[in-house]
Amino acid sequence: MAQEYFQYKGISFPRLIYSEQGLREVENKFQVRDDDVFNVTYQKSGTVWMLEILSLIHSNGDPSRCRTVPNWDRGPWYETVLGLQTARSNQPPRLISSHLPIQLFAKSFFQSKAKVLYTVRNPKDVFVSLYHFAQIFRPYKEPGQLDQFLEQFLEGDVPFGSWFDHVKGWMGLRGHENFFWISYEELQQDLRGSVERICRFLGKQLDAQAMDGVVENASFQAMKQNKMSNFSLAPRFLLDQTHSSFLRKGIAGDWKNQLTTAQSENFDRVYREQMQGLELSFPWDEL
Ligand code: A3P
Repeated sequence: MAQEYFQYKGISFPRLIYSEQGLREVENKFQVRDDDVFNVTYQKSGTVWMLEILSLIHSNGDPSRCRTVPNWDRGPWYETVLGLQTARSNQPPRLISSHLPIQLFAKSFFQSKAKVLYTVRNPKDVFVSLYHFAQIFRPYKEPGQLDQFLEQFLEGDVPFGSWFDHVKGWMGLRGHENFFWISYEELQQDLRGSVERICRFLGKQLDAQAMDGVVENASFQAMKQNKMSNFSLAPRFLLDQTHSSFLRKGIAGDWKNQLTTAQSENFDRVYREQMQGLELSFPWDEL
């Protein structure tokens, strides 16, 4: 059963932690509340970083909860079998994480006032991060050679499907008042300024001390040292961090160390084809 995928509406999911029934429940039956906050990303785009930021904003910069409750309980991935149970039983206001493409998201969201924060990241860095992650995350198939895995990624033949479709789908909500998007690169460049923007979107005011608490405790180093955020409590059959870490490098631009010129040019070509006509600028547009 390990490393087996199934398809749900054309998207691959690893069987170890997802089920068709669970995905159907999420899409058709999950009751979104107006006070829910969703942390949505394509995988490897900064999900757990945003989860930490949102947890800390909620606690006014106090790290106690982040240091005592695992991140997967604070902001469960509601499309996983276990995450759905946790999301349903958590007390409101709920923080819920998701990698689902928009077409598989809970239908009830679209009739609600719940908020979505969507974090995007340079897809070349997403790819590199995913390549390493797939080697340590047991539900995923071994990625094999980087070149071959790159082809699969560019074709969307990986769990959660195509990065391009995911981003185009969710970005279709921009302009809606309950949708906010930010990039991993902006979080890197100016975490405090980004937290201020996030707070404005959430309608939350933090004083300077609370803001310090968020910025300090959401740093890469702080998260790496926090066992509730670094996945060291995850069971070995799911995540084996012996040779690489979930919180691996935490930088922008690592693709330059990992992709050849030919691979990068191929990526650029597919990117241009897929993203043409989208009137949006991203920090990595010099790509
Ligand atoms: P790398 O593999 O490039 O290091 P996700 O949470 O969506 O799975 O994304 C994981 C990526 O976000 C990893 O990237 C991880 O190191 C990075 N990340 C997590 N927390 C971070 C933080 N506080 N600062 C910078 N990067 C962070």
